[in-house]
Amino acid sequence: SATQRTTNGAGGCPFHAAAESPMAPNGCPVSAQAAAFDPFDSPYQLDPAEALRWSREQEPVFYSPRLGYWVVSRYADIKTIFRDNLTFSPSIALEKITPASRKAQAVLERYDYGMNRTLVNEDEPAHMARRRELLEAFTPEALEAHAPMVRRLVREKLDAIVERGRADLVAEMFWEVPLTVALHFLGVPEEDMEQLRRFSVAHTLNTWGRPSPEQQVEVAEGVGKFWQYSGQVLKKMQEQPHGHGWMYDMIEKNRQKPDVVTDNYLHSMMMAIIVAAHETTALATANAFRQLLSRPAVWAELCANPELIPAAAEECLRHSGSVVAWRRIATREVEVGGVTIPEGGKILMVTASANHDPAHFENPDELDIYRDNAVDHLTFGYGSHQCMGKNLGRMEMRIFLEEFTRRLPHLELEEQEFTFLPNTSFRGPEALWVRWDPAQNPERRDPAVRSAQRDFPVGAPEARTIVRRLRVTRAEPEAEGVLGVTLADPAGRDLPAWTSGSHLDVVLPGGEARKYSLCGPPTSGDWQIAVLREEAGRGGSRWVHDTVREGLELCVRGPKNHFRLDETAERYVLIAGGIGITPIIAMADRLKRLGKSFELHYAGRARASMAFVERLERDHGEALRLYPKDEGARLDLASLLAEPDAGTLLYACGPERLLAALEAGTAHWPQGSLHVEHFTAVGALLDPQNEHAFEVELADSELVVEVAADRTLLQALRASGVDVPSDCEEGLCGSCQVEVIEGEIDHRDKVLTAAERAGQDRLMSCCSRAKGKKLVLAL
Ligand code: HEM
Ligand code: FES
Repeated sequence: SATQRTTNGAGGCPFHAAAESPMAPNGCPVSAQAAAFDPFDSPYQLDPAEALRWSREQEPVFYSPRLGYWVVSRYADIKTIFRDNLTFSPSIALEKITPASRKAQAVLERYDYGMNRTLVNEDEPAHMARRRELLEAFTPEALEAHAPMVRRLVREKLDAIVERGRADLVAEMFWEVPLTVALHFLGVPEEDMEQLRRFSVAHTLNTWGRPSPEQQVEVAEGVGKFWQYSGQVLKKMQEQPHGHGWMYDMIEKNRQKPDVVTDNYLHSMMMAIIVAAHETTALATANAFRQLLSRPAVWAELCANPELIPAAAEECLRHSGSVVAWRRIATREVEVGGVTIPEGGKILMVTASANHDPAHFENPDELDIYRDNAVDHLTFGYGSHQCMGKNLGRMEMRIFLEEFTRRLPHLELEEQEFTFLPNTSFRGPEALWVRWDPAQNPERRDPAVRSAQRDFPVGAPEARTIVRRLRVTRAEPEAEGVLGVTLADPAGRDLPAWTSGSHLDVVLPGGEARKYSLCGPPTSGDWQIAVLREEAGRGGSRWVHDTVREGLELCVRGPKNHFRLDETAERYVLIAGGIGITPIIAMADRLKRLGKSFELHYAGRARASMAFVERLERDHGEALRLYPKDEGARLDLASLLAEPDAGTLLYACGPERLLAALEAGTAHWPQGSLHVEHFTAVGALLDPQNEHAFEVELADSELVVEVAADRTLLQALRASGVDVPSDCEEGLCGSCQVEVIEGEIDHRDKVLTAAERAGQDRLMSCCSRAKGKKLVLAL
């Protein structure tokens, strides 16, 4: 913003107002809120996402003089930083956030402390070279092999308390089980557990805390001892030729390729990984139980429907992750969210804040175990350094939840005050007191309950399992051939609010889903859709019309929003054709509430077949233009679109013909003026008979992946361990977009505009393919 300051004159940088406040290193005066921000104050310590709400809303990138860091709080900005680890180097990820006092420094020197690069703070190309050497231990098959041990450990711990009626779950098992699993995974002898836990605390405070000068010395003692201890264990392991575990993989690679897996790396990794693998998972589990148990109805839902456990664990990682902030350093001057960060600028990405960003997550502050994009959270980081152990952490959380929901469904959270180890990054309650009545334990009545386990596949939760069962409370014709359906929570609770443009996926009996836009009032506590009977369709709408009646249960996913309303424009033109009115009416309601100026053009075959006409006339009479064809009325797009207007946005939904005409008719409008929603994915689905195989080269990962004729590019990427988010998987939503560096693309999606396609620099990986034999992707 240095340049903006000069052009903005006396008012200065638009982000920063106060004149006599401190200056950021780019010359900007620091706003009062930025100057006051301190992550060691209690608001951040108690709830980091909430503590940064002001920043997400007003000043998404700011310089914190108290910390000496640039703080970034929005989802999109943080993801951009994670994606580019050359501009934003991870080298400071494990640096002491509070510089050591001279005394503490002396203590560390006495222990010969030499913690340096591991994986998480290593730059390219050394990092990928190492990471690739060490991937084998994380394949689904390799991880699957650890599940029985995790299960056994959790079960033993639970057996020990199940008849007791009250326990602090952190003390009883949440730290010890993940630590044991971590040591087992690494191949480190399971000794000195208590001592290792104390070491981990010292390491966290040393790296992410702000210990007082006296505490610093004590912390340094702990860290120094941890360093020594790691060295001794490593030496013992190096002397054992046939050990099993990830550390042994590293020791072996160190023998084979000492320039790739170096000696110092081995020692540093030994110390860092014990913490990375156990503390993160222990805290995440405690957070998850706290969040779920503090919402008894949600806990009860999970007990009744354990299939949702993977989704619930993921949502807890989003809502209340155990890693809440991560660091990068700018290797050159660079702009983030409109603010210039100088070369050498240290960056604190508050991932907990990103995970509560309403621009990416609907109702972000709500814990919604049905949220199907929870997996987009940044608690595991993102990009080439993304957590390698995420699937092990997920597995542990799921097994804990599965054992407890089955054996102690009557578990309750005790009233208590939670405390946290004061630091910027690792977060979870230090104790978690729960109680239950052992007389109610289901296994007293049926001993089989104790061992009736359910297993989940390794990896991210499967979208098809995230299904909400809702009751139809009304099913009545809205117009000729249009059925209006109202859905409510069977338990009578309010359903989450949604934003205009959102839709639901209604799951049909065969498992296929159809999208229907939400069209009722957004905060009514129930959800309304309207379904047009399409005789020539694939059968979904016929099923809805023939089967859906009041009292029936329907399975739905969502709400999801791929048709977001940009609320910043001055004027809007809304265009609906036929049943396309459903998202459009919700937008009209919203624009009216915002007091915006808009017109609504609504065309249909016949007035009798046009849904919501009465409601529209009542609520939007002035803005509304109706074009029933049977009355000879015709929507004249050519004159409507004749005069391009930079201050106007167009939103449209309707038949493909209408949308195509709009796209053509707005070619002379500013780019990005037209927003449309497609509901059918013609030509996007894989047709193995007519496809050809091709190869993709992943430039960042230096991997080559084969895409067979019967696989989508997305499937092939995932199988090779690359996480690409997705949602619709039929070319409608844009969430699986990947940048293309080279190669000709066969576009099959409905998201990109003609101009974007012609650019040949991005594709939707769920459906699009290579025209030729090869593509090079920026992944
Ligand atoms: C990296 C979080 C569990 C091993 C990371 C990063 C985060 C993280 C935030 C940095 C990502 C980035 O820079 O983009 C978590 C959380 C966990 C968890 C929240 C549990 C809930 C584990 C486990 C293991 C593990 C169980 C071990 C087996 C690693 C490794 C890296 C890493 C090796 C470095 C990867 C690289 O830089 O290439 N983790 N972690 N983590 N994590 Fe985890
Ligand atoms: Fe929706 Fe690919 S996942 S476009």
